Amino acid sequence: MPKIYFDERIAAAYDANSADMFEPAVLGPAVDFLADLAGSCSALELGIGTGRVAIPLSQRGVRVHGIELSPPMAEQLRAKPDAGDVGVTIGDFATAQAEGTFGLAYLVYNTITNLTTQDEQVECFRNVAAHLDPGGCFVIEVFVPILQRLPPGEDFRVFHRSPTRVSFDEYDVVTQILYSHHYRFHDDTYELFSAPYRYVWPSELDLMARLAGMRLRERWGDWTRTPFSSESTSHISVWQKPA
Ligand SMILES: C[S@@+](CC[C@H](N)C(=O)[O-])C[C@H]1O[C@@H](n2cnc3c(N)ncnc32)[C@H](O)[C@@H]1O
Repeated sequence: MPKIYFDERIAAAYDANSADMFEPAVLGPAVDFLADLAGSCSALELGIGTGRVAIPLSQRGVRVHGIELSPPMAEQLRAKPDAGDVGVTIGDFATAQAEGTFGLAYLVYNTITNLTTQDEQVECFRNVAAHLDPGGCFVIEVFVPILQRLPPGEDFRVFHRSPTRVSFDEYDVVTQILYSHHYRFHDDTYELFSAPYRYVWPSELDLMARLAGMRLRERWGDWTRTPFSSESTSHISVWQKPA
């Protein structure tokens, strides 16, 4: 079983620390996109967390079930009065089985990179394909690796700095792993959250989908369907299982 980085301390502060990701301008287009794709089908969220996406999606009439590694994250979700009938299976989304099949599976907010080996990412695609109905879709939202911005010899990049927070990524281009470090000033002290992520290229994800019997259906630069381009910093990719 992978290590649980989203422990009780992180889970308790997750919504407050990710407040920008709950902004209607950020979350609204994601929920619209997923609701359109789900139609009248059920949806499976991998790494459902505290229900940031699952809850508003279920409020749009989509039945949502989640797979989540961290019991404290799932407890935060269950404690929300508007969690409704959003269900959670505790387990690793590369291998865990949820009951039933789904017309849509989705993995947002860079969470594919929480699987830190290529084998685990490949397994995740296979697991998703096994959960999808024929014709069902798998959506991933993930950043495009920014190696172009690393000058020769450099291995880290600061991506957020403010008086109360400093966040930077430390790259190991040999193993395709980046370590993200977040220092937050809280209660007169700095709290540290560090975790490893396996960054992955769009083309590598397409290959994983093909290994699992799925094909790329669409790729966008964001949830509002801006065309994906060389300027895109992240992508929304949709692979489809044959009907
Ligand atoms: C960045 S949070 C995203 C949560 C939620 N999807 C959102 O958009 O707010 C990543 C979540 O994925 C969970 N997670 C990470 N690796 C996992 C794995 N292998 N299996 C299941 N859940 C995992 C973490 O515990 C955490 O709740």
